[in-house]
Amino acid sequence: MPFPIHRLRRLRRTPALREFVRETRLTAKSLVAPLFVCPGSRVKQEIPAMPGNFRWSADLLVEECQAAYDLGVPGVILFGIPESKDHVGSGAYDNDGIVQRAVRALKKALPELVVICDVCLCEYTDHGHCGVLKNGEVINDESLELIAKTALSLAEAGADVVAPSDMMDGRVGRIRAALDDGGLTHVPILAYSAKYASAFYGPFREAAGSAPRSGDRKSYQMDPANQREAMREIVLDIDEGADIIMVKPALPCLDVLALARNKFDVPLAAYQVSGEFSMIVSAARMGWIDRELIMMESLLAIKRAGADLILTYFAKEAAPLLR
Ligand code: PBG
Repeated sequence: MPFPIHRLRRLRRTPALREFVRETRLTAKSLVAPLFVCPGSRVKQEIPAMPGNFRWSADLLVEECQAAYDLGVPGVILFGIPESKDHVGSGAYDNDGIVQRAVRALKKALPELVVICDVCLCEYTDHGHCGVLKNGEVINDESLELIAKTALSLAEAGADVVAPSDMMDGRVGRIRAALDDGGLTHVPILAYSAKYASAFYGPFREAAGSAPRSGDRKSYQMDPANQREAMREIVLDIDEGADIIMVKPALPCLDVLALARNKFDVPLAAYQVSGEFSMIVSAARMGWIDRELIMMESLLAIKRAGADLILTYFAKEAAPLLR
């Protein structure tokens, strides 16, 4: 006979009582800010579909990272927008590439900041796909060589963590081998393990100019209909040596995140992607929702589902509220 013996409202009566029984706590220590690096100097160019996010040249990127770090953001993940693109994404594994240069500058100026580098070819290929194209198809094993070369080059430049987002089969193992052969056994791999072919990446592709010229990414990114397959992707990545696994996008995939948390004892990350960010920002601008409350509730939900790390375009805004 539950009621009137049990009344769950008793512990909701005051803020202090609610604090006592709060199950999930967000902390700024788990936030990672995604940032875009572009050529030039003194460049700060706003990304139209992602208000408050910019393409930064390396010099201003350092200043922005310092500002974010001072507000309590412990880490960033970098994406590059190169001067030119080609068929094989040479800019991605150029030791003097856009992100490689930015990482060197960042690690010099701000050694404590955790610098994660996204590893992918799509921002560097003229066709916009995440691997090498042959007869209109993305060829897996040839792409692996270039992706491993990219990871090695970024780690040599000083990246604290490398994060492959290309979704080629076998890339985690191939990157691990390349890093270890290169004497970089200490550099962890954050694998975008369950990365769905999602329309929520739209604003990012505008920011990075990385939308595929033809076709889509469905032959390598996962079908949003599949949850069991996500677990298989994660198992493979862990077996190949992933140190942290990631689910992406975040809010549309909380079921995947929660299941992964239940099944695997490895650190788990979630990426609140560009479309998730832009939806909240635009609805708030219309006056339809409260920006700050929705921001915090969405981050809390991602944490509650099981994420240790949260990659989010709200990092700099949320961090000071969590101190
Ligand atoms: C590169 C990459 C993408 C994102 C992260 N890494 C784009 C894509 O796969 O099309 C999306 C991030 C976001 O939408 O915020 N492969």
